[in-house]
Amino acid sequence: MKNNYLIDITDKGNWLFPTNGYDKDGDVQEEQRTISMPEGPHKLYCFTDSLMHPAKDADPDAPVFLHEHHDGYETFFVESGGLDFYIDGKYCAVGPGSVIHIQPYQAHGMIFRDYTIYRGIFHDWNCADDSVATSLLEKHYPDAKKDPVFFDLLIKNIDMYMRERADFERAAPEDVQPVRNPDKPLARFDLDGVTMKMITARWENGGVKELWRAEMKKGFGAKWESYPTAQDLFYINKGLVRFKVYDEEFTAGENCLVKIPKYAPHSFVAEQDAVMYDIGGQTQWYSLLQDYASIRKYDPGRAKDPEVKAALKAKFGCKIAEISF
Ligand SMILES: [Fe+2]
Repeated sequence: MKNNYLIDITDKGNWLFPTNGYDKDGDVQEEQRTISMPEGPHKLYCFTDSLMHPAKDADPDAPVFLHEHHDGYETFFVESGGLDFYIDGKYCAVGPGSVIHIQPYQAHGMIFRDYTIYRGIFHDWNCADDSVATSLLEKHYPDAKKDPVFFDLLIKNIDMYMRERADFERAAPEDVQPVRNPDKPLARFDLDGVTMKMITARWENGGVKELWRAEMKKGFGAKWESYPTAQDLFYINKGLVRFKVYDEEFTAGENCLVKIPKYAPHSFVAEQDAVMYDIGGQTQWYSLLQDYASIRKYDPGRAKDPEVKAALKAKFGCKIAEISF
């Protein structure tokens, strides 16, 4: 069912401002589309979908050039294919299911080894704003990005600083801290019907957000307060999840985003075992779940008190009113 809240990332009708990136020979290196535009002072809720093309030079010693950002944070979901990822003096192979998190001033580079579905979320970065203008320019001047004069202006304007060729050492992915394996999260809480896994922490995002992966059993559900004051953006990675937003019901599956306006009453229930990322990341889940675990262990009587739970939720910005399993 078509509605305003369910976004199928693979549906071309949902691709905003498609644009290509090119290699030095002018061949397509990246087909990128914005799926959700950034909003608010920290430019949260930005989501892009890219099909990266494999590097033409399969030589493992081919040069990889680095770049860095001074303001923006980038997090990528590698959903298929694979790349060699260079950061912090090391490089490693990154395959499907991994997440990459890059903070300001971490010089990084990547070389794609295959066609790769590479989905990005960003904050405190104006790249999506520039996609709008670049996309318009390319309608009139399709080769604009191949013009070195324009390209130089663009990279300066989007907080990209080019660095020298990488001379980094090969490492195992688990030894490259920005590469996140959902099987080895930064923190994990096993609750009734759901395992919550922290993939990026608030202290790695300038205090602005955190990224959690919810692995839900069939039948797990949540209902929000009547008028939640932050919008929600969910990325469904596996399984089917039934949502209700205002009075509209729909089912979201793999390759879908669910974008829910603030103040909108909403709820969901997992129709199957499902995996979902909380892209907005406004709730301080790490603090909340840590304190809740502490109360359950050291003061179990308080853990059953609804007022204690309500106070925890209020303290850490959780707008969920009820959880069911
Ligand atoms: Fe970057």
